[in-house]
Amino acid sequence: MNFFDQLVIPPSPSHVALLNVIQILAFLIFLPFTGMLAGGSLLSIYFNYLGKKTKNELYIRFSKDIIDKLSISRNAGYAVGMLPVMTILFVYAQFLYGAKVISVNMLLLSALLFIASYIILYNYKNTFHLEKILNSFKSLLNPDIAKIPAGAKEYERKIIESNSRYGHMGTFVLYVATFLFIGSTTIASDSQSWSQVNNILGLLVSGRIWLNYLYFLSTSFAITGGAILFFFFAWQGGINDLTEEYRNLIKKYSVSLALTGTLLQPIFLFTNIIFLPRESMSSYVYIYSGLALLCVLIVCNLLYVIFKDSKINYSGAVFFIMLLTFSFTIVKDQLIFGNAVKDHLKTVFAKSDELEKETIALVTASGTKGINPEEIFNAKCSACHRFDVKLVGPPYQQTVPKYNGDVNKLSEFIYNPVKVNADYPPMPNQGLKKKEADAMAQWLITKIGKK
Ligand code: HEC
Repeated sequence: MNFFDQLVIPPSPSHVALLNVIQILAFLIFLPFTGMLAGGSLLSIYFNYLGKKTKNELYIRFSKDIIDKLSISRNAGYAVGMLPVMTILFVYAQFLYGAKVISVNMLLLSALLFIASYIILYNYKNTFHLEKILNSFKSLLNPDIAKIPAGAKEYERKIIESNSRYGHMGTFVLYVATFLFIGSTTIASDSQSWSQVNNILGLLVSGRIWLNYLYFLSTSFAITGGAILFFFFAWQGGINDLTEEYRNLIKKYSVSLALTGTLLQPIFLFTNIIFLPRESMSSYVYIYSGLALLCVLIVCNLLYVIFKDSKINYSGAVFFIMLLTFSFTIVKDQLIFGNAVKDHLKTVFAKSDELEKETIALVTASGTKGINPEEIFNAKCSACHRFDVKLVGPPYQQTVPKYNGDVNKLSEFIYNPVKVNADYPPMPNQGLKKKEADAMAQWLITKIGKK
């Protein structure tokens, strides 16, 4: 039983088409952002560590700039991180309504962890700014005359300490959240594993999940490299006060990161297809994988040109083609998921149908207060009808079940009878009001249902 089964209603077929589109859009925003943040935070804490160890200001600046640019602004970050992850969670809860699979509960956990990691990482980013402010104050002081008070020194130490603590913690939580996220979506797209994997340990020992996780990490590093190129050099004219030395450092690390990540992707695209359960497969899955592969090749070429000829102005193109790779992969994964839940959706649709009928019955019942169907039956119907024997008209037991609980349809007949059965004369219109006909229909269906 999923926690969400009480919160969501089972979707109907037309609803599912819409959910598919929403799901693809949410993934399209969420995955590139998460990838950028995952690659960016790791790279940032690495250069932060390196910078503090070697006292190299350039590394520290790189570390700060990476998290600054790649995490976007706090509010925008919440919008492109939290909103989509909650959407994805709710859409999965609807698709997997009533299914015995841990995916939805696990997704809930990962969503909470994602939110925690954003909060911690934005604190990480903030402490950089505090450090910067402190440093600019210090540079104003004349060291010969001024003496920095012990309290201020202590404060500075604390900020530096919490800076790396936030960095490590935020990155760690983010990677755990990502693993759970990939784990639950991987399980969801293989209906065979729904009943097999039922705890976190199950996620940890699944080869397919690790392959998908590594795939995600490779795309993360690729998009991180691409995003650094884009945000440092292209977006809104890039960062303006770049020294030659800093520019070379950025280029060296971002291109090698992007290239490594991109070159690893084809391997995972293939393994992903090889290990896919047969019922999740379709020819479109191959087509979209092929398109993703094509993008990967183009990106590799562009990166090579950037690296060799310093054609930094290709950075924008690299970043956007990487986003395109994401789009194809996401559509492919959504197709796989769609194939996996096909059978399950049939039961969901039946459930949604049932619920709809119940709702209509409830609505009609509430509109028919004060009408007594039994009285109407005695006054207007019993001359020609019984439940079990044939009089002028057919017994209800024979005719009502054929309406299959559809109150509206039966009420329509009673309100305005049409010729049905050649063995009987047509039923004369009994001149009931629409509400009375509704009440009769509801009453007959309930009565027959109980017999
Ligand atoms: C004068 C006789 C007569 C009266 C009064 C009458 N019916 Fe009928 N009813 C018939 C006949 C005859 C048929 C068969 C019509 C046909 O098959 O075309 C019929 C058929 C039906 C059917 C089956 C429809 C189907 O799809 O096969 C229902 C339900 C029904 N009546 C409900 C009622 C209700 C409710 C009332 C009272 C409000 C009522 N009838 C009063 C003669 C009557």
